Amino acid sequence: MKFFIDTANLHHIQEAQHLGVLDGVTTNPSLMAKEGIKGHDAILNHYKAICNISTGDVSAEVLSTDYESMIQEGTELSKLHPRIVVKIPMIQDGIRAIRYFSERQIKTNCTLVFSSGQALLAAKAGATYVSPFVGRLDDVSTNGMDLIRDIRLIYNNFHFKTQILAASIRHPMHIIDCAKNGADVATCPLSAILALLNHPLTDKGLAQFIADAKKM
Ligand code: E4P
Repeated sequence: MKFFIDTANLHHIQEAQHLGVLDGVTTNPSLMAKEGIKGHDAILNHYKAICNISTGDVSAEVLSTDYESMIQEGTELSKLHPRIVVKIPMIQDGIRAIRYFSERQIKTNCTLVFSSGQALLAAKAGATYVSPFVGRLDDVSTNGMDLIRDIRLIYNNFHFKTQILAASIRHPMHIIDCAKNGADVATCPLSAILALLNHPLTDKGLAQFIADAKKM
């Protein structure tokens, strides 16, 4: 399973990249706003800065919601760097835009996916990635991981090439469950990736080894 980092914070991206396990980056307008990125040029420059750190795919979300504007915006984003993936919302015009980009070999990430029917449509349109939001489903008392399992089953049935990019990941158990249930990618905050390192028996065992090493 690939690990993407879900942030627009350059320090977090750098830290995950240095760890050597990072396969890509996802951003969204909320994450960009959180970093204080404002204005057309600043947004484009920030995506370029992310591409200069990460060696994998970088999802950059369109801000418009009508077909023509999404095509214009997505085309501009895709020209920034060969690893930019145009992130498009799961709406009717979005599906049309995904088809447009797919026919031109421009990678897309269909975002805000909350049902297997939506994921089926995204795959039919030729999306490179589909982003089911696990954590936000959990937030409304619906098991987000069930959606990952359902999409995996549907995509396997018909050999869809669209990759399941599990999004809205909140903690390390989400990552482990994504891996068990066949997500192709999990996009996670740095804290969730680093939390995978932790086990008290590792800490205890290492302390013992360090103490014994002094006796050698
Ligand atoms: C990434 O592609 C999504 O936009 C992101 O994972 C959403 O996460 P959140 O539900 O924590 O905002």
